[in-house]
Amino acid sequence: MQTNTVINGDCLEVLRAMPDACVHAVVTDPPYGLSKEPDMREVLRHWLDGDDYKHKGSGFMGRSWDSFVPGPKIWEEVMRVLKPGGHIFSFSGTRTYDLMVTAMRIAGAEVRDKIDVHCDFSSYISYMYGSGFPKSLSVSKALDKKNDDEAKKWEGYGTALKPASEPIAVFSKGEDTEPPQSPDGTEFYYTAKTPKKERNAGCEDLYWCDGTPIDKPTYETMLAENESHKGDKEFKAHKLAQGNVHPTIKPLKLCRYLVKMVMPPERGLIIDPFCGSGSILCAAVLEGHDYIGIDIEESSCQIARARVLHHSGEELESTELPKRKIPKRAMPNKIAKKILRSF
Ligand SMILES: C[S@@+](CC[C@H](N)C(=O)[O-])C[C@H]1O[C@@H](n2cnc3c(N)ncnc32)[C@H](O)[C@@H]1O
Repeated sequence: MQTNTVINGDCLEVLRAMPDACVHAVVTDPPYGLSKEPDMREVLRHWLDGDDYKHKGSGFMGRSWDSFVPGPKIWEEVMRVLKPGGHIFSFSGTRTYDLMVTAMRIAGAEVRDKIDVHCDFSSYISYMYGSGFPKSLSVSKALDKKNDDEAKKWEGYGTALKPASEPIAVFSKGEDTEPPQSPDGTEFYYTAKTPKKERNAGCEDLYWCDGTPIDKPTYETMLAENESHKGDKEFKAHKLAQGNVHPTIKPLKLCRYLVKMVMPPERGLIIDPFCGSGSILCAAVLEGHDYIGIDIEESSCQIARARVLHHSGEELESTELPKRKIPKRAMPNKIAKKILRSF
């Protein structure tokens, strides 16, 4: 596997192919799992049995990849590829922070039992912004749509809070590791959401129809078709977009701050197993480090590659990581328990 690359795939599989202790830090923004409330007993049953838990329903803005937080299996792999003493920074949602941390704690305990490393929950940092989450539905407006006389009475009411902060959990691999210090000594960090110019930098030549990449001439033809059929009820308009269409981009200023905090002063390797449009990878490059990004959607990988290229100004030289010697699979917990019970 090469460094300075964005890999399209399920991070569990990609991480499995990586050698032990090859990265200095993991900074990531995984799915928050903002979907239906799970049955926690069932989730824990699966996780403690070493299974994946599959959740029904889609998450943030209807995205299926946001259905649930990553389970302990993924975090185990993350812990394995991290160098001893290294740190993991992971964004999370206010509503599901506990789930993500539980998964990581379970992964830590398992890893400690098997390969003698310790996953230690040290502290948390919070990413705050003024505009809040686009979550709450205005009750008054919803009623108004139905011409409901009640609408006036419900003015100012919403269906949910609009959280304006996303906690970042900080984990370390190794009991004696000091928690990282903020680069400028501040304890409160505020940052605005990503400006449009920053979001699209490097992505000017990316065109999309229903999330699928298309070329510029096709985009222009479809745009003209939409225009000429305006008001035609029979016509199904093409869903067109240009630039960086990822819904959960993070500000570069914040990502650079985190990278600076977690990486050694010399050049090191950082991974983001849920890289989306690549904000953390861009930050790594801008701070003079090597990176590996992974995302399950090829469209996100394309955006991430374009953004990294924009910020690095050239294709970065990559080095080959040593091949991993994959140990023979241990007997899965459930089967082992069944066999033991039969004696
Ligand atoms: C919250 S977004 C990351 C956004 C990113 N920080 C940015 O600035 O654009 C999470 C990403 O994880 C990806 N993802 C979800 N499950 C995955 C998996 N099992 N393996 C790899 N990527 C995954 C999604 O496609 C999504 O792009």
